[in-house]
Amino acid sequence: MLQGKHIVVGITGGIAAYKTATLVRLLVKAGAEVQVIMTPNAREFITPVTLSTLSGKPVISEFFTANTGQWNSHVDLGLWADAMVIAPATASTIAKMAHGVADNMLVTTYLSAKAPVFLAPAMDLDMMAHPTTRHNLDLLRGYGNHVIEPREGELASHLVGKGRMEEPENIFAVLDAFFASRQELAGKKVLITAGPTHERIDPVRFIGNYSSGKMGFALAQECADRGAHVTLVTGPVALRLAHPLVTRVDVTSADEMHQAVMEHFGEQDAAIFCAAVADYKVANVATKKIKREHNENPIIELVKNPDIAASAAASKRSGQVTVGFALETDNEEFNAQDKLQRKNLDFIVLNSLRDKGAGFQTDTNKVTIFTREGDTLRYDTKSKRLVAVDIVDLLTKYMSR
Ligand code: PMT
Repeated sequence: MLQGKHIVVGITGGIAAYKTATLVRLLVKAGAEVQVIMTPNAREFITPVTLSTLSGKPVISEFFTANTGQWNSHVDLGLWADAMVIAPATASTIAKMAHGVADNMLVTTYLSAKAPVFLAPAMDLDMMAHPTTRHNLDLLRGYGNHVIEPREGELASHLVGKGRMEEPENIFAVLDAFFASRQELAGKKVLITAGPTHERIDPVRFIGNYSSGKMGFALAQECADRGAHVTLVTGPVALRLAHPLVTRVDVTSADEMHQAVMEHFGEQDAAIFCAAVADYKVANVATKKIKREHNENPIIELVKNPDIAASAAASKRSGQVTVGFALETDNEEFNAQDKLQRKNLDFIVLNSLRDKGAGFQTDTNKVTIFTREGDTLRYDTKSKRLVAVDIVDLLTKYMSR
C-alpha cells in the first residue's frame, strides 16, 4: 500500500529516535519515498548520516542548508507529502504542534502539510500523564491528527509506565492500514489520458501545447492509490509514475492517442480525458526538413483530429463513466457545459487560464465541476494532487451508482 507514497518522517529529540531508523527502512523497503526532517535535538540521539543513508535523501534540519545556502521549502514539502509521521514526538514538539509554534523546520512543515499526520509520542511517564500533554494531544486529535498511543513499559529513566514509543513495525502497520482503507476502487479499471499531443510538421518540428501531464498523472496516482487498475495514455511528458497498478501507454500524436484509447476503452469502468489534445494536425507532413531558403512564407494546411473523448463516449455502455476537462480562456462556463453535452460526459472539470495557479504546468489548479444532472461544484485553488482527490471522490460516487 505504501508503494510510491511520499512520506515525511519527523524525528524529535528523544531516546526512541534510534528506533525510527527501522521505520524509515521499512517504509523504503515497501516502496515509499521518504524525506526525513530532524529537529536539532534529534541529531544528538541519532546521526543524520544513518537516516540519509536509509532514506536515500539528505536529511533536513534547518530552514537553510548551511554549506549551500539552499532554502528548504516547508510549503513544498507539505504539498509533496502523502502522509507525515512524527516519531518520536516529544512533549515539547507536541506542544508546539498544538499551538502553532513554528520555530523549526519540522513544526513549520507540519503546519503546511495537507496530508494526514501521524504522531507517536515518547516521553517519561510523568510528562505523558501531565494534564498539559494530555490536553495538547487532545487538541491535536481534534485537528484530525492520528495519535499512535505510546506503550507501557520500562522507560529510559528506568521507571516503568506509559511513555514508550510504539514499535516501528507497528507504526509502519498503522500507515499501511491507513492507505489500505482507501481502496474503494479496488478491482475497477480506469483509463486516463494525460499530457499534450505533438502533431508533426516535418522531421524536426511539431505543433504542440504547454501541457506537462501533471494533472493527468495526479489523477492516475489517486485512482491507483484507491486500488484501481489504471491505463495511463500519455503524450510526450517528462514525468514518471512508478505504481504497480498503473500501465503506461506512451503516444505522440492525437491519432496515436485515439487509437490507444479506443483499444482499451471497452474494458474500462471509467475514463478521464485530461490530455490537451491538438484539435488539428498537419494535412501533408513534410518528409524532409522544410528549408527557410526555399519557403518565404510557408503555409501549413491543417485538418481536424478525431475528438477522442467524444468518440469513446459515443460507444459508452451502461454503467461506464466518462469525465472530461475543459480548458478555457473565455466564456468558460458556457463552453464547459457545451462540451459536457456534446461529448456525452458524466461530468466535466473546467479550468480557466484566467485563474492564477490554474491550467498548464503549475503544481496547483482551480477547478469547477459541472455534472450531467446540472450540479455545479466550485473548488478553491489547491495542489493538483488534492484536485485529483476531489475529482476521484466524485468519480467514485458515479462509479458506485
Ligand atoms: O498537463 P498539465 O500541465 O498539468 O495541465 C493540465 C491541463 C490544463 C492540460 C488539464 O487540466 C486540462 O484542462 N486538460 C484538457 C485540455 C483540453 O484540451 O481541453 P479542451 O477544452 O480543448 O478539450 C475538452 C475535452 O475534450 C478534454 O477532456 C480533452 O481531453 C478532450 N479532447 C479534446 C480534443 C480532442 N481532439 N480530443 C479530446 O479527447
